[in-house]
Amino acid sequence: MWRYAEWLPVINEANIVSLGEGWTPIHTLYKLAAQLGLKKILLKDEAVNPTGSFKARGLSVAISKAKELGITNCIIPTAGNAGGALSAYAAKANIKVTVVMPRHTPETLKEECISYSADLILIDGLIDACGKKAKQLSEKTGAFDMSTMKEPYRLEGKKTLGFEIAEQLNWRLPDIIIYPTGGGTGLIGMWKAFKEMQQLGWLTGKLPKMIIVQSENCNPMVQMFETGIFPDNFSAEASLAYGLAVPSPFAKDMIQQVIRESKGTAITVSEEDMTKGMEAFNAAEGMLLSPEGSATYMGLKKLIEKDYVHEDETVLLFNTGAWFKYR
Ligand SMILES: Cc1ncc(COP(=O)(O)O)c(C=O)c1O
Repeated sequence: MWRYAEWLPVINEANIVSLGEGWTPIHTLYKLAAQLGLKKILLKDEAVNPTGSFKARGLSVAISKAKELGITNCIIPTAGNAGGALSAYAAKANIKVTVVMPRHTPETLKEECISYSADLILIDGLIDACGKKAKQLSEKTGAFDMSTMKEPYRLEGKKTLGFEIAEQLNWRLPDIIIYPTGGGTGLIGMWKAFKEMQQLGWLTGKLPKMIIVQSENCNPMVQMFETGIFPDNFSAEASLAYGLAVPSPFAKDMIQQVIRESKGTAITVSEEDMTKGMEAFNAAEGMLLSPEGSATYMGLKKLIEKDYVHEDETVLLFNTGAWFKYR
């Protein structure tokens, strides 16, 4: 990922804290494309990142920049994967970390943070409740708040998703990207990368339609896209795809802007469909999808049913996390 260092905010390369994140494979899914009647379906597999998710990208940049700025203590509210990633990078950089996570998160994720020697605080509720607790603690202790999109550098790390897609596909972007969206950092980061490359003349042709997928249990951005207004008093339930259970994304306007500007759309999938999708995909392709990854696959199936995707379009799906972390 640090091949793109010139595009990232770390000034002195001695401050780079890396565990080997990025440059993840893009697989061509021949079997599923034939089954679904499309010419080309691609999958970017972010599960092979250190700590098993795409969160490694943002947190490698965030911790590198924190080190450069002399930050020694930080705190993060997380649905799970970001907490594990921050704990790992902070351990390597000798930065103290407190992770605030929903109590219902799978044990593997809690144990992961503890083994990197993070302090773990469990909260009854979803990530919004964790965010409130993290803010209080940050004000009290002075720990730097690493919340998504409030801290500016995680987004810069996520930009590398966009650079890689372009470089790996020989500077021809797919027609459609389907992305499992919670806080929206990946979506907004990719879009920022596409715009930056376009400005430099590295990309010609159209940018992809950006499609967000959310769970039926927590779909505020789909509602906002459909009605133009963020739902009032939105009450969300937990999801098997815990990264998607974000009831009130801080960057909701930016998410909406990316969908609109790219002429994309927003869809939901049910919890049952995510499970069915994992079973079908894993058995067909020999790869393990996380529930979030499965949401992109099931989302594609829905879009084909609605006639939104056409046979000759290239679609890129995302597996954002490792199946093993959901046990
Ligand atoms: C596996 C996984 N996929 C997707 C997401 C949503 O990420 P974003 O904040 O980029 O929308 C998360 C966030 O926790 C996640 O852990």
